[in-house]
Amino acid sequence: MAGSGLEGVVVAESRVSRIDGEAGTLEYGGYPIEELAEHTTFEEVAYLLWNGELPDEKQLALVRQRLANGYRLPDEVYQLIRATPPSAHPMAVLRTAISALGLYDPQAADMSREANVDKAIRLTAQFPTITAAIARIRRGKEPVSPRDDLGLAANLLYMLNGEVPGDREAQTMDVALILHAEHGFNASTFSARVTVATLADMHSALTSAIGTLKGPLHGGANERVMQMLEQIGEPSRAESWILDALERKEKIMGFGHRVYRTVDPRAPILRKLGDELGRSKWLEMSDRVREVMEREMEQRGKAIYPNVDFFSASVYDRLGVPMELFTNIFACARVTGWTAHVLEQLEDNRLIRPKAKYIGPGSRSVRPIAER
Ligand code: COA
Repeated sequence: MAGSGLEGVVVAESRVSRIDGEAGTLEYGGYPIEELAEHTTFEEVAYLLWNGELPDEKQLALVRQRLANGYRLPDEVYQLIRATPPSAHPMAVLRTAISALGLYDPQAADMSREANVDKAIRLTAQFPTITAAIARIRRGKEPVSPRDDLGLAANLLYMLNGEVPGDREAQTMDVALILHAEHGFNASTFSARVTVATLADMHSALTSAIGTLKGPLHGGANERVMQMLEQIGEPSRAESWILDALERKEKIMGFGHRVYRTVDPRAPILRKLGDELGRSKWLEMSDRVREVMEREMEQRGKAIYPNVDFFSASVYDRLGVPMELFTNIFACARVTGWTAHVLEQLEDNRLIRPKAKYIGPGSRSVRPIAER
């Protein structure tokens, strides 16, 4: 039991997504991730996660419109972002900004499904605006106002880089967002559900979730992958770098997964996207790292394969996203999964409160302080 990390424990029933860790498959609402990546947009996937069905054209137009209406932030939140110290991690600033948004949202305390769907849409629209504003302000630039005529992925790149992205770039970001949108009872989603199960509000649940995603064993891994690639420096140094790290018993970032015992189905899709953007030094290096890891893990008899974070690093870099923002981009996608789970939790809510097996000292009496 000690250190089990709840591995394999079923804690709830959910309709949002299904993962088969042995087969390496992932479905949102029954649709394979490969088909969603190929045939839908992030907005359609968001609708699917919230409603359980893909939208028709009319429903999609409406959800796009509602997202565009939500892109803007209150001035107070821009001021707050400006006031944060440059040493703060962008995920810490995002966590603070989302918490602050709850202070200005007139529906913050309304726990009806209707209000929570409104908030889910608005927050999904606001994550990219906050993320891009953090990046711009840190580079000493003015935030770029969102454009209502752009989809969420294109708008994110537009607000980050100050120019409307090409179709390929926008589509790549769109697919990356689809791939990161939802993943069952991962640590951040679980913490969102635990928070909202106390009947705390949506903004509190998302603040918990962002704090949980921040860690290097979860969403923080994509930034660490990029740091690793930079440390390796050249593809020719990949093998010796990995062998040295394994010798020191270090975990290689971007490899391994609590659920998948085979290839993470999202990794090859991202790898292909990277290729379509054009060869880069980082992609070449990633391939080299993967080959070395494949060989070494096989020799050690461990089922450790690249995960979603591994190739997202080189793809995000190619799209002009600064490394320290990688986990925020993950959050911009996962907010849809988090909010879908919040809605699902509230449909049939019961406080989530497991218990621990006590292994401390036996019962004893308190001695006066002078005698201790
Ligand atoms: N590099 C090298 N070895 C790894 C590894 C990695 N990234 N991930 C796991 N292993 C090894 C472990 O050392 C362990 O070996 P042991 O049995 O000799 O002790 C074995 O594989 C099983 O791993 P374990 O740590 O029990 O898996 P977990 O389910 O607790 O952890 C992760 C899963 C994701 C936390 C873990 O694989 C990891 O830290 N990966 C790097 C961070 C990362 O990419 N996270 C993003 C996940 S999407």
